[in-house]
Amino acid sequence: MSAAGTGTQAQLSDSELKLLQTLVYQECGMYFDSRRAHFLQDRLHRRLKECRMDSFYAYYRLLISKEGKVELAKLLEHLTVNETSFFRNKAQLDLFHRHILNDLLARKQEQRDYSLRMWSAGCSTGQEPYTMAMLVADALSYHVLRNPSGYDSTFPKPMVPPPWKVEILASDISYSALRAAQEGLYSEQHMSSVDYSYRLRHFDKVGERYSVKKTLREMVHFDFHNLKTEYLPQRNDVIFCRNVMMYFDEAEQRRLIEKFFRCLNGGGYLLVGHAESLLGLTEKFNMIYRETGTAYQQIEVAL
Ligand SMILES: C[S@@+](CC[C@H](N)C(=O)[O-])C[C@H]1O[C@@H](n2cnc3c(N)ncnc32)[C@H](O)[C@@H]1O
Repeated sequence: MSAAGTGTQAQLSDSELKLLQTLVYQECGMYFDSRRAHFLQDRLHRRLKECRMDSFYAYYRLLISKEGKVELAKLLEHLTVNETSFFRNKAQLDLFHRHILNDLLARKQEQRDYSLRMWSAGCSTGQEPYTMAMLVADALSYHVLRNPSGYDSTFPKPMVPPPWKVEILASDISYSALRAAQEGLYSEQHMSSVDYSYRLRHFDKVGERYSVKKTLREMVHFDFHNLKTEYLPQRNDVIFCRNVMMYFDEAEQRRLIEKFFRCLNGGGYLLVGHAESLLGLTEKFNMIYRETGTAYQQIEVAL
């Protein structure tokens, strides 16, 4: 291949394609099979054009060099699909809100452990972790109403009433998605699935857009994490990893589920996307479902 700089897009040869597929797979777990090869080629051509390079091999050498780390991150960013929305998969979120949070809060209350740790793995532009934060805030205020803690109630009421502490970690491999998530500014179109009571409580209108209020923003912490690596955030009560695994092949999915198992506290929960399932991939989780919403609960191992 050598015509990328001239405006015509030469096809990658099979061996070039294989090299690129392997590199991307090793770096981030995304697997581009023959059905998605045209997407890989298209994004490669865009990067070549932006870098003003016309030789695949020169570009590949750059990618695998020490100096090419930044370019490799940019290429991976061009390959990710960042589609997301607030309150995505309503049935599953109802299960999270009504069953999972109830169970966790009751268990924690009994153990006098007032901390909740959750992780949105592959958070894209932030709609998922902010949705989690809104639902946790709701569940907590209801829980505290039924189980008064004896702490003085201050005004304005904090989003997370003491003695409770909530940490929601939101991570992604895409720096541009993380920047947008951190900025927390959403258009009317993005907000179409957010009802008015949530808009009023958790967003400020800034011109034509909606800005996440500080109180909600403070519940979420954004960070870069590549799910392909071994060292992932530990001691979570809940992990959301929705619509991410579907881009991985079966071997990588198995490895990731095993890592998630180790990243969860005993009896913790894993929520995957509507088109994803743990079926046939692990026996370390039980599937739970209500109506049409599904989630997985880690089977505790006796120590
Ligand atoms: C389709 S979005 C899903 C967003 C959100 N979880 C949802 O369901 O609405 C997939 C996200 O996974 C991220 N991703 C893909 N591979 C990843 C990896 N190896 N490590 C971390 N994030 C990854 C992408 O950057 C993208 O933002």
